[in-house]
Amino acid sequence: MQQHLDESTVNSLVANFSRDGYAVLPGFFAAPLMDHLESLVVTHFGADPAFFHNTEFLTKAETEVIPWFPQRESIHDFDPVESDQRLERLTTALLGDGWQRQYCMVMFSKAGTAGQAWHQDCPPDDAAKFNLNRLVYTADIVDSIGGQLQLVPGSHRLGELPVGEPRGDMARQIVLKPRKGDLVLLHGHTWHRVLPIHGGYRSSTNFRSAPAGTPETITDICVYRNMRYRFSSNEVIVAR
Ligand SMILES: [Fe+2]
Repeated sequence: MQQHLDESTVNSLVANFSRDGYAVLPGFFAAPLMDHLESLVVTHFGADPAFFHNTEFLTKAETEVIPWFPQRESIHDFDPVESDQRLERLTTALLGDGWQRQYCMVMFSKAGTAGQAWHQDCPPDDAAKFNLNRLVYTADIVDSIGGQLQLVPGSHRLGELPVGEPRGDMARQIVLKPRKGDLVLLHGHTWHRVLPIHGGYRSSTNFRSAPAGTPETITDICVYRNMRYRFSSNEVIVAR
């Protein structure tokens, strides 16, 4: 685990993040804490959880993920991650003073599901309005299970995700396979997807945040290659 972040580490991370739209910090969180959180995730979801979204969304978005917001159920075991001073410092370096915590969301996908199609978490219409995903992995992402994270480096600066096959390959895509305890920082405008899950299950836990002044509803509209979808009203607002 990285006990200390010196100034040059933080500065280079900020530079890389603004160029690439993501950054990976291996082994950022200690294994015992990750093991504990993983046990809570497994207990919560069980072997065969039901999907959260409606059928239209599951079909059109080609996205099968089940969210869980433990803090809304007064489960505070995830709080030490959120309040980690190094994470707070990195977030301030990336987002500036006055940034906001949004929520802690565990995203779970079971075997035989599609993962997540290419998307941007929020519309890139205003480059200054975005969410920051702070993704923590409580177990290794491995090829035998699937659920790898794919993204196009630098795409947070390229505007709207191109129209096309929701899960089709894209030029310059890369694959990330985070290990237990890794922290992945991901700009909400970066084009990204989660590959299908072949066996077992996969989860990641997102401590979402945003710069000062960002509306709470910033991630209500998600951009896919075939539509813009609004979660609060469960509808396709733009077909593409
Ligand atoms: Fe996303």
